[in-house]
Amino acid sequence: MPFTPLGETDKPRSFFILCIILVVLIIVWLIIQLSRRTMTSPTGEYRASNSDTEIVIYDMGELEKRAGQVMPSAGFDYVRGGAETEKTMRRNTLAFDSVDIYPRVLTGVENPNIRTSILGIDISMPVIVAPAAAHGLAHVSAEAGSAHGAAVAGTIMSVSTYASSAMADIALAGHGAPQWFQLYLSKDEQANRTLIRQAEALGYRAVILTVDAPVGGNRVRDLRNKFKFPLDLPNVPKKSGPTKGRGIGDIFAAAKNDMIPYDIMWIKSETRLPVIVKGIMHPDDAEIAILAGADAIWVSNHGGRQLDGASASFDVLPEIARRVNKRVPIIFDGGIRRGQHIFKAIASGADVVAIGRPIIYGLALGGWRGVVSVLDYLKNDLRRVMTLAGTQTIEDIKQVKLRPRCVQIQ
Ligand code: FNR
Ligand code: LAC
Repeated sequence: MPFTPLGETDKPRSFFILCIILVVLIIVWLIIQLSRRTMTSPTGEYRASNSDTEIVIYDMGELEKRAGQVMPSAGFDYVRGGAETEKTMRRNTLAFDSVDIYPRVLTGVENPNIRTSILGIDISMPVIVAPAAAHGLAHVSAEAGSAHGAAVAGTIMSVSTYASSAMADIALAGHGAPQWFQLYLSKDEQANRTLIRQAEALGYRAVILTVDAPVGGNRVRDLRNKFKFPLDLPNVPKKSGPTKGRGIGDIFAAAKNDMIPYDIMWIKSETRLPVIVKGIMHPDDAEIAILAGADAIWVSNHGGRQLDGASASFDVLPEIARRVNKRVPIIFDGGIRRGQHIFKAIASGADVVAIGRPIIYGLALGGWRGVVSVLDYLKNDLRRVMTLAGTQTIEDIKQVKLRPRCVQIQ
């Protein structure tokens, strides 16, 4: 047999094998990218995280980026996104920079007490969970996971009509901890009545009526992604048709859009639970809601997801608080990410604040333990801010005067 030097004939063969490996790698990468965009595995299932761990948070600003690494991209875009240019969404957090806190010294403050209460419910901190649709986009445990986390942290879980867990499962996961039910009114009065009755029977302690979504905001990310809910929203009245596979604009369109003060009165006549009106951004609307029977006002621009070009919710809080004048408690949300934000909101008239996105990010990164980590981070940060500002209790924060600052907010 003629002698062939080793490698001479192998060279083209190894080159060919290398090419095949490269092509396979490129195809796998393409499939992964495509499935992240379409939010499905190659077998067509939505792939939410199933992680179950405490998370270490050095800075809440980083949480969103980290969540984006574990959530399918279109689901993540739905959660993190705002309306149109997203300026109102961004201003929600930036607006806290329009006032400064005076550091106070020699006050003897040590280990501040952050416990408080709202509508007769004692909570471990002045921070509660805001209602947000479809926690199932973040984690397989969905709202049941968030409810468990909120219960462990000792605070209130608000549950959206558009939750991806059934109301009964969420109630169960809360182990008797306080929960509020957020109602999106449907066009069908009987369906609304059934939902309210169900919330009462399951032990929910208040009804939150959200009034700022007669139509969906112009959410450009969702339009680009052609975002449709990949999972069912089991609490939406069945008469409104299936929810899986429908976009949020479509779902809002099927709800009751022409709300008036009478709707608050109607809910009050249907239930003994306190009724909280969420989505108030104008002092006159606070007045109207109180006259219609609201037991609490929730100042919010829906996390900047509805009317881009609206003020940051923090910017309108003081004028609304002045008009409400302590007749009913005020819940506030929009851009809260730090202890100083909580402090500034309470010093500006809020009784408690709520957080939306950070809870979903904590859930994505660590399941219920991640939710506890987010709430613990805020607890510790608030205690630190209170100590440095010389306030021992939440009531003390309410007496604080903030220092206005003239800054140009981008
Ligand atoms: C919301 N929000 C909301 N509000 C409501 O009343 N019912 C709902 O179903 C939802 N759904 C929802 C989904 C997602 C993904 C987000 C981010 C928000 C608004 C929410 O209650 C709250 O007002 C904002 O999230 C507060 O702003 P931050 O904390 O997210 O900045
Ligand atoms: C949202 C809803 C469902 O903001 O309120 O997407």
